[in-house]
Amino acid sequence: MLPRHARGGGVTIAVMQYRAWFAAVDGSAGTWPLSEVIYRHPEGSLLEVVHDLTALRRRSAPQWKRLFEDRYHGTQWPYGSGVWGKKEWVQPHIADENVVSLLEGGTNLFWAERYGAQLGLSDLWIKQCGTSHTGSFKDLGMTVLVSSVKQMIADGAPIRAMACASTGDTSAALAAYGAAAGIPVLVLLPRAKVSAAQLVQPMANGAHVCSLDTDFDGCMRVVQRLTEDPTIYLANSMNSLRVEGQKTISIEIAQQFDWEVPDWVLVPGGNLGNVSAIAKGFTQLLELGLISKKLRLVCCQAERANPLYRAYRRAVDAGRSLTEDDFEPQTAERTLASAIQIGDPVSLPKAVRALVEYDGVVEQASEVELADAVAQADRTGMFNCPHTGVALACLRKLVDARQIGPRDRVVVVSTAHGLKFTEFKTRYHEQALDGVTSAIPNRPVEMSGDPDQVLGELHRVLDGAGSQDA
Ligand SMILES: Cc1ncc(COP(=O)(O)O)c(C=O)c1O
Repeated sequence: MLPRHARGGGVTIAVMQYRAWFAAVDGSAGTWPLSEVIYRHPEGSLLEVVHDLTALRRRSAPQWKRLFEDRYHGTQWPYGSGVWGKKEWVQPHIADENVVSLLEGGTNLFWAERYGAQLGLSDLWIKQCGTSHTGSFKDLGMTVLVSSVKQMIADGAPIRAMACASTGDTSAALAAYGAAAGIPVLVLLPRAKVSAAQLVQPMANGAHVCSLDTDFDGCMRVVQRLTEDPTIYLANSMNSLRVEGQKTISIEIAQQFDWEVPDWVLVPGGNLGNVSAIAKGFTQLLELGLISKKLRLVCCQAERANPLYRAYRRAVDAGRSLTEDDFEPQTAERTLASAIQIGDPVSLPKAVRALVEYDGVVEQASEVELADAVAQADRTGMFNCPHTGVALACLRKLVDARQIGPRDRVVVVSTAHGLKFTEFKTRYHEQALDGVTSAIPNRPVEMSGDPDQVLGELHRVLDGAGSQDA
């Protein structure tokens, strides 16, 4: 039975008139229903969800805008979710009672006035995808995947569990949504390469947590093997259902700017599902006439896990646009941006297409650059994860190189909450990060309980002697 508020007022339309299906990204023949357990085309290509645009065009762009706005943050189940408020564009076939939602999406998009001014930008915005149920943008894709699995089980599919390989955030999201749905979850994590908060999340949600003596790419190989068994459903972003939820980041950004499109969107990239999803969202907005301008995308990589950056440089140096042939997998080195420590990204073909379509740029940031970018932005009131630090550091480089102009409207997609990465922040401020000399550490001053001593310290700080302002 649906919750009481589910039957309240609000805007319902007959979603069954809308259809979507799986098709190969590379154009190989064939389509499959979204209820099928299939992750790749039989000849190997990645799949994507294709929507019946003719049916979607029966509503005009102004009608879609009004519908999305009426539902935004509302209480009518499940449309108050940022993802399910766009249900017809995401997964129209799912019955409302099978939606597994923890009210994801609808995240802040705020003007980073002070940090922007420090970089020389007047129109910098942060899309705070980490202020979400499990603290990262992964909730957006996971609500779609787990709802789809619940629908499949309701329709008789013999699925016994869902499984993923993860650098931390995917497993947290899968475990939470799996627990909410009552579907068993198995997560494979690279041992000692995720933060304590990321590890405890799936433990707390009752997932079967396997800590493997390998890196993320190794975990990915294992999970692909496990999910050859059709009763174990693959929850990684290779599964294109995830992309459908994550693409709502772009729809929300456009909506939050009253359907105006920024000039640039920057996003950290590891397995490259998110950059592909963001492109897909903007493409759907263009196809359905809700926007008319094409922005530019920037994929931001850690220097120690930069296979896409290297491919991009190869293409730029040869004076042509990026192709999959420019790419060579690597063994990613250890990076503070642990969730993007990936050397062989699964969604590469989609990301290459996205970057070509959106006149994309790929930039990289060193460990020092990303750590200082986090600290500097935190000083202006943010509380960033190291991956967002990669994007912020890349932004600085592109502004310094005058590729991004001072009056351009720029959105940085912040992908996780800083509270999931407190070891990293603490070590920065203790000047204990390997290979990083912290530019602006800020340690607590230890004092007795003597008011005069505290007053003396306060004067010292306010008079500038101990000022730690960047
Ligand atoms: C916090 C965070 N940022 C960025 C990414 C990169 O996203 P993608 O792997 O889709 O490129 C991830 C992926 O795990 C992540 O957890």
